[in-house]
Amino acid sequence: MKTKSLIKKKYLSKIQELEKHNKLYYDKSRPIISDSDYDRLKKDIIELENNNNFLINKKSPTLSVGSKPSKIFLKSKHRVKMLSLSNAFDYEDLINFEKKISNFLNLKVNNNFEYSVEPKIDGISASLTYKNNNLVLGLSRGDGIEGEIITENLKTIKDIPKIIKDKNFPKDIDIRGEVYIGKEDFEEIKDRFANPRNAASGSLRQKDPNETKKIPLRFIAYTYGFSSDLNFTKQSEFLQLLKSWGFNINEHNKVINGVENLVNNHKEFEKKRLDLDFDVDGLVYKINNLELQKRLGFVTNAPRWAIAHKFSADSSFSKILNIEVQVGRTGALTPVAKIKPVNIGGVVVSNATLHNEEEIIRKDIRIGDTVKVERAGDVIPHVLLVDFKKRPTNSKKFIFPKNCPSCGSKVIKDFNKITKKHDAVQRCSSEGYKCEKIAIEKIKHFVSKDAFNIEGLGKRVVEQFWNLKFIKLPFDIFDLNYKKIEKLDGWGELSSKNLRESIEKSKNIGLDKFIFALGIRHIGQENARLLSQYFLNIKNFSNLLKDFNFNSLANLDGIGETQIASLKNFFSDQINLSVVKKLITILKIRNVVQNTKGKLINKTFMFTGKLSNISRAEAKSLTEKNSGKILSNVSKKLDYLVIGEKPTSKKVKQAKELNIKVINQEEWKTLLN
Ligand code: IVH
Repeated sequence: MKTKSLIKKKYLSKIQELEKHNKLYYDKSRPIISDSDYDRLKKDIIELENNNNFLINKKSPTLSVGSKPSKIFLKSKHRVKMLSLSNAFDYEDLINFEKKISNFLNLKVNNNFEYSVEPKIDGISASLTYKNNNLVLGLSRGDGIEGEIITENLKTIKDIPKIIKDKNFPKDIDIRGEVYIGKEDFEEIKDRFANPRNAASGSLRQKDPNETKKIPLRFIAYTYGFSSDLNFTKQSEFLQLLKSWGFNINEHNKVINGVENLVNNHKEFEKKRLDLDFDVDGLVYKINNLELQKRLGFVTNAPRWAIAHKFSADSSFSKILNIEVQVGRTGALTPVAKIKPVNIGGVVVSNATLHNEEEIIRKDIRIGDTVKVERAGDVIPHVLLVDFKKRPTNSKKFIFPKNCPSCGSKVIKDFNKITKKHDAVQRCSSEGYKCEKIAIEKIKHFVSKDAFNIEGLGKRVVEQFWNLKFIKLPFDIFDLNYKKIEKLDGWGELSSKNLRESIEKSKNIGLDKFIFALGIRHIGQENARLLSQYFLNIKNFSNLLKDFNFNSLANLDGIGETQIASLKNFFSDQINLSVVKKLITILKIRNVVQNTKGKLINKTFMFTGKLSNISRAEAKSLTEKNSGKILSNVSKKLDYLVIGEKPTSKKVKQAKELNIKVINQEEWKTLLN
């Protein structure tokens, strides 16, 4: 109770302070604090409100329209992450999707799941927080973890209710949906934007809500994030509730059982899609039963219980003008066809990937050929086939380089121990930062959304700064000369100051994102998360750089030989090592916040043998939800070996030798309660 009143006091004093500065700014035109200090104050208030339901004040910046527009958008954490969806392209992908679900739920295959089927509008997703029936906060998706505060812009959209009259509306809920522009409306403004999606995104991110208002944006609701009370058991029921509360929902939403029916519906809908007044790039299928959704949960970035079934690709013919080899972040060399620009499904395409040398040979692709290029949604366009009838006599075979086009190192193919074959992909054999192109790509990755997420430091700016020799290694980002940047073409005092602010802000980073940002091969977001859960803080992680005890990682469920070999390889390079060490001194790397609420906190588990009535995957997921950790080997670090039917006897023996508790499924359940 005491803390509550303290929080309230702090909140009210901040509101008063904001009021004072609003007056100075509006009535007297005499601001006495900097824009960024003003923004910080506003952000503090919004965050306090977000974390404490009892705080509300009519002078709050979330309610008053009179607050000063920000130069940059402030950000706020989503209370529930905004995820993306995995994709399916055909019948087989859907069958696999169902199989995975059935396995996870320990059900027989072919059980005719019920799905909520919703058109996937190609717009911009947004999250709307309603407290006590009032729209108090609107966020963009951002990186899924935190979004930009675009409340005022969203409030200009007619479809978005500002007040909900229904008294059964949850007291505190995030409503999520898609902001988009109708095709007809787009016709009127199409000179200014490449496509409807860009137009929606551009106008949502206008600094001045009056600019947003000029574009006829629309909103369709389809899901929720946080919610204080949920009185429904199905997604389709929730959609109906949305409608009764005054939101628009898609009139083509349906409930369908089983993959066969999904596929038939997809065929029908695909024919209709061009007649709709909005761009759709597929259909979203969600397991309709919310109880099952809850059990299925998530993988890193997407739910296990939903999938987007994309429409077939658009394609066009064009001529290959040249073939270039691009060097990727991990050194992979990708041949890319430079084609005569051609419009494919509304987007102008001038590059199409050829994947690798084997593909070029298999499809017999030559420079000068007329080829069919396919583009599906946001996937990189690729060359499908050659129209041999149109092959000119002077067509030129492409010879794949033996040396990296950037640094001249030898090109190699990795040997895959599992398939016992060489990979199709060719790679630059140099180590990371020694190859210019790899270095640039590594820096782009470092600043990208899922890593340091530095606003204002996009791919083009990285290239510009690279060419000017402002940045050569990642730590140079934190030592930029802003006076110099200010004077560059296209830059100014304000943009340079904004960049400085976002770079300063990015220094405070979670351990998982830090590990991911290093761009170690085979260490993607999920593995970076696993490693961070293991190390817990940067101190433990830095010990790895001293003792090189990589084999201790072999215990982690999910980290295998490939990952360990790649980590070893990465840290045996002196440049990588010094980059990491220097970064550690510059940054403020946050400890991993452990889920300490669960009963199994600080306990490690391993499963062996067949469990009854529950899949291994769900058992692991339940253990993790209760703060337990999963190991993949029997070692001293293991607390419990859970045995099902026919366990591996070697594991049981090892566990007994090490005095590890061997328990059965029932005993595990009792621990979980
Ligand atoms: S559900 C956790 N439903 O698709 C599920 N998303 O790739 C994620 N989208 O960012 C959201 N229509 O912008 C959902 N009916 C629909 C959707 C939809 C379009 C977009 C949304 C999201 C993206 C996921």
